[in-house]
Amino acid sequence: MNSIRISASLLSADFGRLVEEVQEAENAGCDEIHFDVMDGRFVPNITVGVPVLNAVRSATSLPIDVHMMVAEPMRFSEAFAGAGADIYTVHVEACSDVARTVDAARQAGMRPAVSFKPATPVEDVADLLLLVDRTLVMSVEPGFGGQPFMPEALPRIRTLRAMADDMGRKVEIAVDGGIKANNIAAAVRAGARTLISGSGVFDGTGNVRVAVKALRAAAG
Ligand code: DX5
Ligand code: ZN
Repeated sequence: MNSIRISASLLSADFGRLVEEVQEAENAGCDEIHFDVMDGRFVPNITVGVPVLNAVRSATSLPIDVHMMVAEPMRFSEAFAGAGADIYTVHVEACSDVARTVDAARQAGMRPAVSFKPATPVEDVADLLLLVDRTLVMSVEPGFGGQPFMPEALPRIRTLRAMADDMGRKVEIAVDGGIKANNIAAAVRAGARTLISGSGVFDGTGNVRVAVKALRAAAG
């Protein structure tokens, strides 16, 4: 069986009890924390930044993936590394120089990853598979939690997996957006190994453990 990783996206957590929500995700067996940063330019929404990441960092020993939905994320790599980010996921559409951005993240001590919006052809990012060992396929338009999963993401994951295999690259594929118990298995079958879920983990019932167990059971 292929082992999968479940990453809890804090966007749907109760920010009034953020530290407890992070600890609940860790206690529920999540493998990673997903921290969405939005700047109101690259995406039409604003979320949180470095001071909140400090609070999250102090609450968990899980790896934290900082998903930068921000124009020119290279500007902030030192700051987020200093606040404890482990993975620095940047959008190819947001960087004037993706290679330099990836390099800066690595220099700052983080693991770089690249992401792309649903409309960006995956073939366009083939070269980047030589630069990073992780990609994040968006299965919603970035900007908001709680949107429905776009099934068009599945062939994109398959194509990316095939391209990486052809290049002999052990690239890990993460998928982000609308992941729920009813579609997680399809994403895993397509080749995703890190399944990022916000409203599937923090689902409003207050029982993160039950939600994570259901996701994992459904993943197959
Ligand atoms: C969307 C964010 C996602 C989102 C996932 O722009 O990048 O991480 O929070 O939340 P759900 O699982 O609710 O789609
Ligand atoms: Zn995200």
